[in-house]
Amino acid sequence: MNIAIDGPAGAGKSTVAQQVAAKLGYLYIDTGSMYRALAWAVHHYELPVENEEAVARLLQENTIRLEREQGEQRVYWNDIDVTRLIRTPEVSEYASIVASYASVREQMLGLQRAMATRGNVVMDGRDIGTHVLPDAEVKIFLTASIQERARRRWNELRAKGNDPQLSDMEKEIAERDHRDMNREVAPLRQAEDAVLVDTTGSSIEQVVDRILQICDRTGESKQ
Ligand code: DC
Repeated sequence: MNIAIDGPAGAGKSTVAQQVAAKLGYLYIDTGSMYRALAWAVHHYELPVENEEAVARLLQENTIRLEREQGEQRVYWNDIDVTRLIRTPEVSEYASIVASYASVREQMLGLQRAMATRGNVVMDGRDIGTHVLPDAEVKIFLTASIQERARRRWNELRAKGNDPQLSDMEKEIAERDHRDMNREVAPLRQAEDAVLVDTTGSSIEQVVDRILQICDRTGESKQ
């Protein structure tokens, strides 16, 4: 069984997807980290992010790898471990831009489908249920209110010692939603056969349980 989890920034996708994968013994694939790795490289090598051709070529000529090490997913750009480096506001901003390029998405699609061929994966992103794995047995669209998503990001950044403004976070999240939902290629939207799970006011455990129940039901109906 393959499980696709899509939704906007800050809905809790990666935490939830990781825990669902761990409970089922499935492989977790965070597709956002692949766009982030490319964005990190564009930023690091000071390429013009608005130049789609240059960005697509950079991806073509380099390698992004997701590895599991001590139960944690690590992200490599060639042999550079960029796991931590890709979690900055600059990289988030750039990731949303490079993810809007058709030539980039096409390459990512190939890489992501190849990772899912052996099955039993939990893949999270924006277009997994609609484009990458349209035949996934379970599709979840995870969401939460903008205020709650902004508060979660704010807490994360504060835990890392930053002192961001909550209102800036709300603005940033609303902007990213707008760009992800309105881009021409593979915009963020709920697949017709996806189950909507709103995480506003729910704990991670509650959301994970809900998804596991959905997986159980799907598994039973297939037997
Ligand atoms: O989930 P995230 O914040 O790590 O994703 C980073 C960016 O990549 C975000 O702007 C959305 C984009 N993305 C995408 O377009 N398609 C995916 N499958 C995953 C992420």
